Amino acid sequence: MIEVNKIYKGDCWKLLDEIEDESIDLIVCDGPYGVTKNGWDRLRNIQEYNLGLIKMFSRVLKKGGALYLFGKPDCIDFIDYRPFLTLNSKIVWYQPSRLGQGRTTFTNNYDIIAYFTKGKAKVFNLDLIRVPQLVELEHRRRCEKVPSVINGKFPKTKFNEKGKNPGDVWGDIKQLTYKSKELLSKDFLNTIQKPKKLIERIVKASSNEGDLVLDPFAGTGTTLVVCKELKRNFIGIEINSDMVNICQKRLNDIELNLSSRLF
Ligand SMILES: C[S@@+](CC[C@H](N)C(=O)[O-])C[C@H]1O[C@@H](n2cnc3c(N)ncnc32)[C@H](O)[C@@H]1O
Repeated sequence: MIEVNKIYKGDCWKLLDEIEDESIDLIVCDGPYGVTKNGWDRLRNIQEYNLGLIKMFSRVLKKGGALYLFGKPDCIDFIDYRPFLTLNSKIVWYQPSRLGQGRTTFTNNYDIIAYFTKGKAKVFNLDLIRVPQLVELEHRRRCEKVPSVINGKFPKTKFNEKGKNPGDVWGDIKQLTYKSKELLSKDFLNTIQKPKKLIERIVKASSNEGDLVLDPFAGTGTTLVVCKELKRNFIGIEINSDMVNICQKRLNDIELNLSSRLF
């Protein structure tokens, strides 16, 4: 029996069987990409692997629940996920700082975060994830000087004071670097540890306080930490015991911080 707000050591393909049908509000799936030298990342066919995950996840997701599946640009190419989940956006997580070292083709500068829901999304908290609309504000100022606007022939465009929808190209959140205070170890650069800001956007957009979030490939536990801080319940699964210890330590540190603030 799986309990909430815990990190489990094990293989998510097995442990998921113990999760009840339609019990999860949001899944953050940052698993294999099929490109690194890590043993767990060496797969024969990443698309077939992801289709298997999508099938499993559609069983445990509530109606209207969301899945964010991370991967390389081809991570869901030529597979039919439509009987299981609805694809809403293929978010491009753009990383302009990568060194352009490719010699035979254009260097890949982005990851995909495929945003699926089980039917129509039950939650999309746009107001919690709005970003500054700097470009539009400049444009508006220019527009306001145009005679047709000054004379009131065309109505002024309404802008939301809280900012704009972040859209499906996320270039404002940077990958962790050697200099990031958040980085736990240089071993986790690039393919492993994700920035909290990235996961916060996902968790805020597609869940509410008290909802249940599943991270089946927990790694260093970024999703679990974000969930704890944002008052979401969570279930974490991670196959590597060293990583499980790191998750546990990060979760314990939040407890310690909270209790030290109380005294
Ligand atoms: C890309 S990392 C996740 C990183 C995480 N998002 C973070 O911010 O730290 C993927 C993790 O999945 C784990 N993993 C790989 N195969 C697994 C499986 N079948 N079940 C559970 N965990 C697995 C790996 O050990 C690795 O730590």
